[in-house]
Amino acid sequence: MPGLTAPSDYAEEPPRHPALKINSKEPFNAEPHRSALVTSYITPVDFFYKRNHGPIPKVEDLSRYSVCISGLVNKPIQLSMADIWALPKYNVTATLQCAGNRRTAMSKVRKVRGVGWDISALGNATWGGAKLSDVLELVGIPKLSSVTSLGGKHVEFVSVDKCKEEKGGPYTASIPLMQATDPDADVLLAYEMNGEVLNRDHGYPLRVVVPGVIGARSVKWLDSIKITEEECQGFFTQKDYKMFPPTVDWDNINWSTRRPQMDFPVQSAICTLEDVDVIKEGKARIAGYALSGGGCGIERVDISVDGGKTWVEAHRYQKDGVPYVSDGPQSDKWAWVLFEATLDIPANAEIVAKAVDAAANVQPENVEDIWNLRGILNTSWHRIKIQNSSCAGRSKL
Ligand code: MTE
Repeated sequence: MPGLTAPSDYAEEPPRHPALKINSKEPFNAEPHRSALVTSYITPVDFFYKRNHGPIPKVEDLSRYSVCISGLVNKPIQLSMADIWALPKYNVTATLQCAGNRRTAMSKVRKVRGVGWDISALGNATWGGAKLSDVLELVGIPKLSSVTSLGGKHVEFVSVDKCKEEKGGPYTASIPLMQATDPDADVLLAYEMNGEVLNRDHGYPLRVVVPGVIGARSVKWLDSIKITEEECQGFFTQKDYKMFPPTVDWDNINWSTRRPQMDFPVQSAICTLEDVDVIKEGKARIAGYALSGGGCGIERVDISVDGGKTWVEAHRYQKDGVPYVSDGPQSDKWAWVLFEATLDIPANAEIVAKAVDAAANVQPENVEDIWNLRGILNTSWHRIKIQNSSCAGRSKL
């Protein structure tokens, strides 16, 4: 691609905030510390988790950058950044969550393969860009199409980065044509993040944002878009990011038996405490995030201080001064919901959070039941063990 190039080594990585917790240096994978994560509804770019599979691409000359749209369409085109800027601009507040969020905790049950993540492999940003449904109209695909006249049913995104898993080839993913052409699905070709030009780590100059779906489908450093009959056949769609039952291991796995993961299930975590923590007996503020995939709101977040015997409901919020209503017209449907509760913490408490989404889906109680060999979608109840809470320790109030 003229304009956007992909290095084969890590000599020209962008600068990153020193406060990030690095889970892998090359490729660079990092998350903020949990205590920093929910200090604001919109995650600052510096503290937004970074999930990469290769060295970060570089723009040599933005005026020579273009995205090619081809495949099963009647009129393939090349779009420059100027063409994309000329389309109506939308700002969509959406949480991106890596399917591997909370993988480290799953690995403690039984070892899983993949980068270890604590609870902060997610962030909430306002993405600015063109709607994919508008872009696809430029190649003659009307809104709300499930198939093109030439038989295209999927929209595949191809990047330029060099990924080991693809033997040096680029990162790819696809979404169904119906989702891509639905203006209400808010799929963006984004060039801005929180009102600033996208930075290199997050996909400069252009990335896909697929709200409500695991982060793996939001391809960064977009090079081309292909309309295809079948879903993407790349590694990250066919041999990764699939959910298997706990009985499947590396000796009996058959990747083709499961569909690629798209929407993520209901999730929540407590960010104000470590998994094992020391606090004084008495009142403490328990706060964190909850979210569900597919644009489903959060109906309730329950907190227990006795390991799940009794529960109280936490206060949920998104924007200042706007009461949060799951599926309410003023709520950001693609975004996380923050929660807080100030509770009396007894001695040796076990604090637990569990969320219920607007479709009444509830997080599973035990990680053992959802263990899978790739360690994805650990959405089990988040448990915090308080030790020696009658001793003088840090107060979290
Ligand atoms: N796109 C490209 N080109 N290369 C990648 O490695 N990682 C994916 C997705 N898009 C990836 C990519 C994964 S697994 C996630 S979770 C998100 O980007 C992370 O986006 P972020 O780094 O902006 O947080």
